[in-house]
Amino acid sequence: MDLFNCLLLLCGCVFLVVGITMKFKKSPAKPQPSETKPVPYFFFSFFLIYLPFIFSKTVLKKDDVTTPEIPEVSYGPIHIYFGSQTGTAANYAQILGEESSKNGFQPKIIDLIDFDIKQLKSCKLATFLMATHGEGEPTDNSKAFNEWIADEERTNEELKGVKFLVFGLGNKQYQFYNAQGRKINEYMEKLGAERIYKYGEGDDNDSLEDDFNEWKTGLWEGLKGVLQPVRSTERKTTKTQSNLPFIVNTGNDAKEIDLETYDVNSDDKEYEFQMKQYLLSASANVTSIRELRQRTDDGSTIHIEIDNGSCGVSYRTADNLAMFPENDLETVEKVAKLLGLNLDEVFTLEENEDVDKKIKFKFPFPSPITVRTFLTKFCDLHSPIR
Ligand SMILES: Cc1cc2nc3c(=O)[nH]c(=O)nc-3n(C[C@H](O)[C@H](O)[C@H](O)COP(=O)(O)O)c2cc1C
Repeated sequence: MDLFNCLLLLCGCVFLVVGITMKFKKSPAKPQPSETKPVPYFFFSFFLIYLPFIFSKTVLKKDDVTTPEIPEVSYGPIHIYFGSQTGTAANYAQILGEESSKNGFQPKIIDLIDFDIKQLKSCKLATFLMATHGEGEPTDNSKAFNEWIADEERTNEELKGVKFLVFGLGNKQYQFYNAQGRKINEYMEKLGAERIYKYGEGDDNDSLEDDFNEWKTGLWEGLKGVLQPVRSTERKTTKTQSNLPFIVNTGNDAKEIDLETYDVNSDDKEYEFQMKQYLLSASANVTSIRELRQRTDDGSTIHIEIDNGSCGVSYRTADNLAMFPENDLETVEKVAKLLGLNLDEVFTLEENEDVDKKIKFKFPFPSPITVRTFLTKFCDLHSPIR
């Protein structure tokens, strides 16, 4: 199996295992009182941050294009917007994207930071996956959209002709449960858009994934029941040689970039959701991990100690800490052996110029990088394959 096929196989995965080295998101430039000293160790139970979005887009060699299977009937484009802080809603957007393709839709997955009203109006069918953060507040990437939708300047005809559906991600432990999902669901209707599928919401304190699965049971059949199929001639025009956004290039003697010193701000490449934060994060060593529960059949609470001595990140009680775990070397080596990959092979991701660029193109991760770095930092090798 060549590198390209392996990349395909590994797409769409989620990080789950905490490696020995972790990358920490540096706090936004929030002034710290001068008397606050960095806390040497952190205590927390569940700060695993998922990066499912990184490999959610398929990478493809230009010469290796096979025509994707297209369902007999097409229902046209669907925009899937996500407001996400720690990646879950972004992951759900990918899941809906894949399912919608199989059901005859042409999905575009859009980070709400790139929200563009003209685009929404031209698409006419929009799904919103909205997580709530802070105390009932929007995620960083959906703040501007949140302000836009509630602005006094909006009129109740503004989104006439747009059909929409919303799923909210929240946690019942918080006072303002699913405030953002509820707000967007309400405001879309207020601005004249038509809800064509029931509003759904999930509780991260219980079983968010079950809630999501339950909500989307019947979703595609429901949409097909109210939407007109697109004529087959229109469908053919969307069938290009490849509508996949990346090309993987190998064997061009490229040298791996150093991710520790890589200055993302001086690069003109745009990166997908949270990749920039990842690239701006600092490394720290985990010095101990202990299970605190006597029985783990019902879940796990872990005490983790992190040495932040040299990473330049301080922590105060109630600060948020984002953690970007890596796969351990042993697993990486096993996977490479199984797939017949050379860990030292360097590859470069390039934009596929043949793809329609109505949605802003963004790289999922920087390159050139080795297969080792790719498997260690940008792939989930532990979660079940969907
Ligand atoms: C710091 C923090 C604040 C949160 N605040 C709320 C809240 O006010 N209301 C709520 O329903 N859920 C809240 N949640 C739960 C998240 O919405 C939930 O975990 C969601 O699945 C996160 O989605 P994301 O990974 O896409 O960001 C909060 C979670 C965190 C970590």
